[in-house]
Amino acid sequence: MHGFSKNNAFMALQDSIQTLLEQVQTMKASNADEIEALRIKYLSKKGEITALFNEFRTVPSDQKRELGQKLNQLRQEAEGRINSLREQFEAKHAEAERIDLTRTPDPIALGTRHPLSLVREEIVDIFSRIGFTVAEGPEVEDDKHVYGMLNFAPEHPARDMQDTFFIEKEIGVQKPTDILLRSHTSSVQTRVMTSQKPPIRVLCPGRVYRNEAISARAHCFFHQVEGLYVDKNVSFADLREALLYFSKEMFGAETKIRLRPSYFPFTEPSAEMDISCNICGGKGCSFCKGTGWVEILGCGMVDPNVLESCGIDSKEYSGYAFGMGVERITNLKYRVKDLRLFSENDVRFLKQFESC
Ligand code: DAH
Repeated sequence: MHGFSKNNAFMALQDSIQTLLEQVQTMKASNADEIEALRIKYLSKKGEITALFNEFRTVPSDQKRELGQKLNQLRQEAEGRINSLREQFEAKHAEAERIDLTRTPDPIALGTRHPLSLVREEIVDIFSRIGFTVAEGPEVEDDKHVYGMLNFAPEHPARDMQDTFFIEKEIGVQKPTDILLRSHTSSVQTRVMTSQKPPIRVLCPGRVYRNEAISARAHCFFHQVEGLYVDKNVSFADLREALLYFSKEMFGAETKIRLRPSYFPFTEPSAEMDISCNICGGKGCSFCKGTGWVEILGCGMVDPNVLESCGIDSKEYSGYAFGMGVERITNLKYRVKDLRLFSENDVRFLKQFESC
């Protein structure tokens, strides 16, 4: 019955519906953007299927029924296809996103311990085994604790501006000041002795500052570890014994030590200690300049003046003290030739201590 009376608009629309239906049935997309592009192409306000619905208005009403059904089918088909593409894609995506807890994790890039920290901790560890505990003091100190109470004469050259960094009380105004950056950790001795009663057995690791031009062999800051033991009847033999124990633990059981007379304002008698060169084993090499010995620390019996200035009775108590540079010990252990490497944070240098 149909057919005879069908006009051009009907025929054209029917063809278009057929063409789009074929397109819709073979639609493909591989990601969310492509799926959305298909939706826009066919079903959005300006989409091709929507356009057909507009054309549909021009079809005579007696023919609308048949075409209307076909159009609705086309729209349903398109919606169905797009939804199923979307579901497929989401399922795939979810699969990929799912966290696989059985997977070995990517290795986390760990930092390394700084060689100076490693050596400082080793020094602390060795002395803690013979009863030393750690004490700390401020890096910004006063003249009294760094020099005065340690028996430095008022005109002692260490106080000189050439050695010590003084802190200006007012910015930009250079007035005489007694606030400074400590130039040695011996300042912690005076802090401890004024706040604790003997027996005192402390180790004081810390950073110190000196007004030096930076080069491979000198830096304006470096690290020291100070040791202090105050009790009744502490003798030079006790000092020697503790230092021999330390040297063997740090550099190996075959290490020998020798004490050379020296001078420090805060110890009497004073000495500098050498260890047998751990690089040539004492035979003589360029490191020990052919002597077989390398100096590693200063030490001595705490000067009675120092004990008294800290309120400790020097007739009842005696003590020993020693101070060593952490950089120096690290150089000996790891042969680091340039001091600047310790503060430049070059990972190529630091990474070499990964397994330490
Ligand atoms: N304070 C000295 C320095 O910085 C090192 C030192 C020497 C510390 C002898 C001591 C000591 O405790 O007894 O060069």
